[in-house]
Amino acid sequence: MYQAPRGTVDILPEEQAYWRYIEQKAAGVSRLYGYQRIDTPTFEDTGLFTRSVGQGTDIVEKEMYTFKDKGDNLITLRPEGTASVCRAYLEHGMSNLPQPVKMFYFADIFRYERPQAGRLRQHHQFGCEAIGEGDPSLDAEVIDMAWRFFTSLGLQNLSLVLNSIGCKQCRPEYIRILKEYYVKQAPELCPDCSTRLERNTLRLLDCKKPSCQKIADAAPRSADHLCPDCAAHFAGLQKYLHLLAIPFAVNHRLVRGLDYYTRTVFEIQPQDAGGQSTIGGGGRYDNLIEELGGKPTPAIGFATGIERIILNLKKQSIAVPPLPAPQVYLACLGEAAREAGIRLGAELRGAGTGVVVATGIRSLKAQLRQANSLGVRFTVILGDEEVKAGTATVRDMATSEQQTIKLAELAGVLKKAAW
Ligand code: HAM
Repeated sequence: MYQAPRGTVDILPEEQAYWRYIEQKAAGVSRLYGYQRIDTPTFEDTGLFTRSVGQGTDIVEKEMYTFKDKGDNLITLRPEGTASVCRAYLEHGMSNLPQPVKMFYFADIFRYERPQAGRLRQHHQFGCEAIGEGDPSLDAEVIDMAWRFFTSLGLQNLSLVLNSIGCKQCRPEYIRILKEYYVKQAPELCPDCSTRLERNTLRLLDCKKPSCQKIADAAPRSADHLCPDCAAHFAGLQKYLHLLAIPFAVNHRLVRGLDYYTRTVFEIQPQDAGGQSTIGGGGRYDNLIEELGGKPTPAIGFATGIERIILNLKKQSIAVPPLPAPQVYLACLGEAAREAGIRLGAELRGAGTGVVVATGIRSLKAQLRQANSLGVRFTVILGDEEVKAGTATVRDMATSEQQTIKLAELAGVLKKAAW
């Protein structure tokens, strides 16, 4: 027996209501802020991700699904969505459109991680990107959009953490100071941090090991080493967040796991859980479009993992609206009834009524059981006698009331009574 590959899951019919609920809220909130949908390919040239996500990151170093296709092209299943949207922005000349260009997406994302609750090898993201504007009011708007999205789902007790990691001008000096600090702590660092010290010093700040966390807490803070422009930008963002009444905390240890970020980085987490349960995150990436061959173009975005949202909806016992069931089940007893049922089913569907016509030869009891489990509003019972008389018995599944209705009138009666 085959099983779904480790770290992947089937999204079964009974889970679909969560997915439709989230997608509908996501599309709704995107419309509220003027974002248009974009869909990009599931795979891209590997270089796009090594270039943007960054060579020294866990994603590029350990987690990408990379392979050569039959044409000898090096291909990677997308490990995130931002790089593809930027590639599309450049490829389709979107810098000629009024800026910022705002796009949202739903995408399956592939990362070879150690699977656990809320951490999969194939997960799904809702993300948005606003490309072509550097003003901190846009940062506040993107965060506001993320916040509105989560609260519109009914999620409670979320916290927003924020940081600024500076720009090309001020970050090198900050990294130098940070490295100087960490070199002094070298004997205390975990093996992962020791190897990261040279290649990706910033990432030491978000090591999850308790001993490293203490060291990170006392480390120099990026927000204290910003150039005047970055400092003004960060202050502007905080001012606008206050204006929007969005509660936040600045956390100097928040650096995120992708190299393209500049200035603003943020994450949204359930208050009762640790870092691994982050439900959404994002930030500014003012150099990425240029690094991918475009002209200097500031941008910001965020993404959220749909599986993690569902975990939190369930944890907080938030009920989602059920998906609509078919309205009618057509139970048939006997061959003449079956022929009439097949005809009637086609007629009802033609009139826009959702119908499941019983198949196979089963007792009325078994057919009613199936009707019940489908959650239909009405069961239409057709026996050979009824067919001869040109009638059918209609059973209201909620009240168990039954009525005899003329076949000629059935479509109209069901349509009127249906939801
Ligand atoms: P990220 O933080 O790597 O950011 O991923 C975004 C969200 O995807 C996370 O907050 C989490 O909810 C979910 N997620 C990540 N990895 C997994 C996993 N293995 N299993 C389940 N869920 C997961 C990005 O990907 C950036 N592209 C976000 C962004 C957009 N920044 C700017 N624009």
